[in-house]
Amino acid sequence: MDFFNYRDGELLAEDVPLERIAAEYGTPCYVYSRATLERHYRAYTEALGEHPHLICYAVKANANLAVLNVLARLGAGFDIVSVGELERVLAAGGDPHKVVFSGVAKQAEELRRALEVGIKCFNVESRPELERLNAVAGELGVTAPVSLRVNPDVDAGTHPYISTGLKDNKFGIPVDEALEVYTLASGLPHLNVVGLDCHIGSQLTDTAPFLDALDRLLVLMGRLRERGIELEHLDLGGGLGVTYRDETPPHPSDYVRALLERLAEWPGGEDLPLLFEPGRSIAANAGVLLTRVAFLKPGESKNFAIVDAAMNDLIRPALYDAWQAIVPVDTRQEREAAVYDVVGPVCETGDFLGKDRELAVAAGDLLAVRSAGAYGFVMASNYNSRPRPAEVMADGERAHLVRRRERLEDLWAGETLLPGDEAPR
Ligand code: LLP
Repeated sequence: MDFFNYRDGELLAEDVPLERIAAEYGTPCYVYSRATLERHYRAYTEALGEHPHLICYAVKANANLAVLNVLARLGAGFDIVSVGELERVLAAGGDPHKVVFSGVAKQAEELRRALEVGIKCFNVESRPELERLNAVAGELGVTAPVSLRVNPDVDAGTHPYISTGLKDNKFGIPVDEALEVYTLASGLPHLNVVGLDCHIGSQLTDTAPFLDALDRLLVLMGRLRERGIELEHLDLGGGLGVTYRDETPPHPSDYVRALLERLAEWPGGEDLPLLFEPGRSIAANAGVLLTRVAFLKPGESKNFAIVDAAMNDLIRPALYDAWQAIVPVDTRQEREAAVYDVVGPVCETGDFLGKDRELAVAAGDLLAVRSAGAYGFVMASNYNSRPRPAEVMADGERAHLVRRRERLEDLWAGETLLPGDEAPR
């Protein structure tokens, strides 16, 4: 459930009319709802209740400082994949001791910074990474807390681009090799083996693959226990799906209940600390992309609604053929309905936000692309030299600008001419 609802025919973000946000901050513009972020985060913490846990929100889903800060205030931890994300978490007031660091190619500099600020755990994905981390920790004279990201070889049944837990994916250590790598890790002097983690994919709509993965990890934990390697936590990654259209993913409470039931069968499972790395299930339906119709272009075989947002602002439809709802902001006006492809101004045929959508719109109307709070702005680019949109957060009756729209001069900030050359007049 989210807090984008119609009142008297007008779409609001919490208690703020989107029309007002568009008038004040312009379009295209991302609009987030604080109450929705909080509600989705709490769905996890409430489901886990007394079971020891840490929810490490996956920063990659939406890295805006205000979003991170809202979650940090609730006590969230964070899952990061770069030093850039780490610095964002710190700038947003996040607690470094609640940070886990995932990613297949962490650089020595990144490891160093994460060790300096004392993160909770490094989710290591390969042997060479273990060795690199051991060396960097040794140089700093510290011990690095380590979890191994194991690839359990389960089919998450999701889009192939966002499926990560299969043998053929680049992620993690194959489950069959894990025992050996744990033995290696526990012998390295500057590492402290504390956990086990996996992340099998994103936008999963069924609990079965998660349970499959958990079973495999528990078998591995049993073997580790036999060898005297006792782990302090199990990190099950992110991946819980959301409803974009008609998907029916499990509610976090059902998902967590199923996991806890399975875990209870395992000796010591009742109080084994669990970590989760949800991104999409917290942020996706906590945001919309607000856009204005520039022109309607009726055609023989297709009608186009050309809007001021484009694939550079929201790439999911173009990249994954993802379906996201597109709805009018004001339903009070008399408009004739027609079927449109909703497209942007970018010079690519792949530049669409939605295809074959029945809409009652006119030029100048506002539309909201729903479920755009995750993997929206973070994947935006400046393609076609388009400044990236503003980001706004609604909080009750107020809306706050949480990132200003990029200016034209931001587009070439950092670029230089060749020496001796001057711009032609
Ligand atoms: N942990 C790790 C190690 C991950 O790689 C990911 C996402 C997450 C957690 C968060 O997963 P979530 O709860 O959001 O499913 N750009 C794609 C999604 C890519 C997900 C990559 N990894 C999209 O727009 O659908």
